[in-house]
Amino acid sequence: MPAKKVIAVVGATGAQGGGLVRSILAEPDGAFAVRAITRDVLSDGARALAAAGAEVIAADIEDAASLRRAFDGAHGAYCVTFFWAHFSPEKELTDAGTMAAAAREAGVRHVVWSTLEDTRRWIKLDDPRMPTLMGRYKVPHFDAKGEADQVWRDSGVPTTYLLTSFYWDNLIHFGMGPKRGADGKLEFALPMGDRRLPGIAAEDIGRCAHGIFRRGPEFVGRTVGVAGAHLTGVEMAASLSRALGEQVRYRAIPPDVYRGFGFPGADDLGNMFQFNHDFSDEFCAARSVEFSRSLNPALQGFDTWLSANAKRIPIG
Ligand SMILES: NC(=O)c1ccc[n+]([C@@H]2O[C@H](COP(=O)([O-])OP(=O)(O)OC[C@H]3O[C@@H](n4cnc5c(N)ncnc54)[C@H](OP(=O)(O)O)[C@@H]3O)[C@@H](O)[C@H]2O)c1
Repeated sequence: MPAKKVIAVVGATGAQGGGLVRSILAEPDGAFAVRAITRDVLSDGARALAAAGAEVIAADIEDAASLRRAFDGAHGAYCVTFFWAHFSPEKELTDAGTMAAAAREAGVRHVVWSTLEDTRRWIKLDDPRMPTLMGRYKVPHFDAKGEADQVWRDSGVPTTYLLTSFYWDNLIHFGMGPKRGADGKLEFALPMGDRRLPGIAAEDIGRCAHGIFRRGPEFVGRTVGVAGAHLTGVEMAASLSRALGEQVRYRAIPPDVYRGFGFPGADDLGNMFQFNHDFSDEFCAARSVEFSRSLNPALQGFDTWLSANAKRIPIG
C-alpha cells in the first residue's frame, strides 16, 4: 500500500480545521493521514484529536519556524486565519504570508486556503452605501482574506481558494439565535430582507475541503465555494419553529440597526450582511449546494443540522 499523504491542518482544534481532521480520521483506509496543528498539545481539544488518531503537533502562527516544521513533509495543508481572535485584517494578511512562506519552503503540493470575497471589488471605499471601516475596508474580515488571495498566488504554492459560508453554528456560539420579543414570542433577526443567505454546518466546511484534497490537481488555482443551503430569513425561521417546537418569526432588520448593536465587530457584520443582501444572487452562485454535495455527500441542510443541534441554541 502506498504511504499515506499527510494533510497538515491549521486551526485543527477549531471549527473548520476540526471538521477536516475528523473527516480524514473517519476514512482510515483513505489516501490521507492528518497532522493537527495546535498551540497547545495538552488542551482538551488537542488531546481529543490525538485520542481519535490524529498526529498532533505544536506550532504557533506567530512563530514562522514552528509552522515551517509543522508543514514539513506534508502533501497538503489547510490554511485558515483567526479574525475573531484579534479583529485585525492586517494580521490576517500577515498570517496568510506566514503560512504561504511556510508552505512554499516545505514544498507543500496542495494548499486549501479558507477565504472570502474582497467586497471592495463590488463596493468601492467611497461608495456611501455602507461605512468604510478601519480606514480601508468595507467588510474587514472578508476583505483581508480576499486580498490575501494574491499572497497565495504570488507564493507559487499550488492553492485552492475555498469560499466558505455563514456557519449555522453562529446561532449557538455567536449569539445569533432567536430571542424573545416584547410580546414574549421568539424572533429571529437578520439584516437580510427577503434575500437568500448561503449557510453551512461548520463541520461540513472541513468535509468539503477533504473532498477537494481527494480530487487534488483539478482544483489547483481555482476558487470554489461551499454551502449547505441558500435560505431566506423566513425559511430559516420556519425551520427553527419546527425544530424548537415553538413559533419563531423572522424580523428583517436594517443593516444600520445591526451596525449599531455595539458589540465588537457589529459594524463589520452589519456591512457583511448588507453585502450578502445586495449581492445575494452572485454570492449564492459562488457557493453551489450541488457542487458542495459532490465534494461531501453527507452535506447537511439546515433542518438536518437543526435536528442534531437545536437543543444547543441558547434562546435569549
Ligand atoms: N463564523 C462564521 O460564520 C464564519 C464563516 C466563514 C468564515 N469564518 C472565518 O473563520 C475563521 C476562523 O475559523 P474557525 O471558525 O475554524 O476558527 P475557531 O473555531 O475559532 O478555531 C481557530 C483555531 O485556530 C487556532 N489558533 C488560533 N490562534 C492561533 C495561532 N496564533 N497559531 C496557531 N493556531 C491558532 C486555535 O487552536 P489552538 O488553540 O489549539 O491553537 C483555534 O482552535 C475566521 O477568520 C472567520 O472570519 C467564519
